[in-house]
Amino acid sequence: MARLSTGIMELNKKLQGGIPEGECILIAGEPGTGKTIMGMQFLYNACKEGKKCALIATEETPEKIMIHAKALGFDLEPFVENNQLSMIRFLEMRAYDVDEEYNSNYMQIDDISNLIHMMQDDIDVIVLDNLGTFSIGVDLKEFRDKVDMLAYLLSKQKRTSIITIDATAHELTHKIAEYSTYGTIRLMVKENPYTGKMERFMYIPKMRGTKLSMELIGYDITEEGIKLSPPKTNK
Ligand SMILES: Nc1ncnc2c1ncn2[C@@H]1O[C@H](COP(=O)(O)OP(=O)(O)O)[C@@H](O)[C@H]1O
Ligand SMILES: [Mg+2]
Repeated sequence: MARLSTGIMELNKKLQGGIPEGECILIAGEPGTGKTIMGMQFLYNACKEGKKCALIATEETPEKIMIHAKALGFDLEPFVENNQLSMIRFLEMRAYDVDEEYNSNYMQIDDISNLIHMMQDDIDVIVLDNLGTFSIGVDLKEFRDKVDMLAYLLSKQKRTSIITIDATAHELTHKIAEYSTYGTIRLMVKENPYTGKMERFMYIPKMRGTKLSMELIGYDITEEGIKLSPPKTNK
């Protein structure tokens, strides 16, 4: 199976090379756990590998995301300039929606599916940050159906994608989005029982076609983005 680098070298090793190409992966976690950073790291790497990419950002403007990414060493600007990376202004589209008082007609997952449907065929890689935006006020069955359709569409069109979801929306929807996607990476902060300190961990409950070790994988958010922590010896 062809894989696309996550942009995190040590994580690629745990995933037999990276994310299965043409498939859709969910990244779930509390605010501040690094979901957006992980998405940007993946995008930056895909751009460097020459892929055509798109970012659909529902919570921040592309400008802000680019400033944050650049501070961590992931300069996306040249790729936007050479049209390799499209920034889709979903936050502004949402704001317009609210302004115009189309309140009964808020942006929905369908709008994202339509958008992706209309995207040029040569866009290989898509990051959607954050799906949780669309879970509010939607019933569970509807949410499941729509996420199913979105994941189906992405994989049918062979776009390798990362979709993030915040922990609150993920819990409220009973983690149902995990059923629709090809794989899931959960990001969390937990107390290390050996040190008594809060530490960052990722857990990969599902990645089809991939042998998983089912361990908690320690990581850090550094000035150069996400890095896996070296295994600790508990002496
Ligand atoms: N330069 C940096 N050095 C260390 N940690 C950083 C740096 N920049 C951001 N972070 C960490 O990243 C977190 C934000 O990550 P982000 O991807 O935006 O989280 P999420 O999208 O899950 O809410 C911050 O709370 C901070 O802890
Ligand atoms: Mg975020």
